Amino acid sequence: MIDVVAFDIYGTLIDTQAIQGKLATLVGEQAPAVTRLWRQKQLEYSFRRGLMRDYRDFSVCTRDALVYACREFGVTPDEPAIERMMAAYAELDAFAEVADSLQRLAAGGRRLVAFSNGSRAAVERLLEHAGIREVFAAVVSVEAVGTFKPAPEVYAHLCQVCESAARDVCLVSGNPFDILGAAHAGLRSAWLQRDPATQFDPWGVEPDIRLASLDELQARLDALQ
Ligand code: 2OP
Repeated sequence: MIDVVAFDIYGTLIDTQAIQGKLATLVGEQAPAVTRLWRQKQLEYSFRRGLMRDYRDFSVCTRDALVYACREFGVTPDEPAIERMMAAYAELDAFAEVADSLQRLAAGGRRLVAFSNGSRAAVERLLEHAGIREVFAAVVSVEAVGTFKPAPEVYAHLCQVCESAARDVCLVSGNPFDILGAAHAGLRSAWLQRDPATQFDPWGVEPDIRLASLDELQARLDALQ
């Protein structure tokens, strides 16, 4: 029985590629490629810091990755430019279907939790700005554990906060690394594959649910019981 539906934030509910327009003021027409490299490096830095046991707030990974990505394309941003990008990143929009889908899930009695590498403060701000904070029973951040996804400890922390067994928690994420981490920790998982071209890692482990939009989630969760 799924007691809790936990939602990854960046790249799942919040569109990290939406920063592209603001980034174009800094890097011009290279913005799509810089945005992709920024996200890739942000995650790589979180993986590195987890393995190094050198935790810093996820915003440090985001900021350092921004500088790396800009420099890779020949732009060295000054402090004001970095601050502008970080301020925009702190208030990114949600994907189009998110608000209505989450409200329907909550109205249907589902217990929803936000679960992210982002700090509680950063996630609270994103959810408030996106107008979806009220549907969540809790915001759970990896900062309490001092490491990052997909470390097993962060999923154990999520289950502990929710007072639920891992098998009764379903993680919804657009990030295959997060799905694999959750499955490895014994949670159920729903992979939100927004882009059909996105490949799931060939690890021989499959998500319990694959969906292209959150609109499909309620029916799929009922079938998963
Ligand atoms: C998260 O929100 C980074 O997408 C990942 O935890």
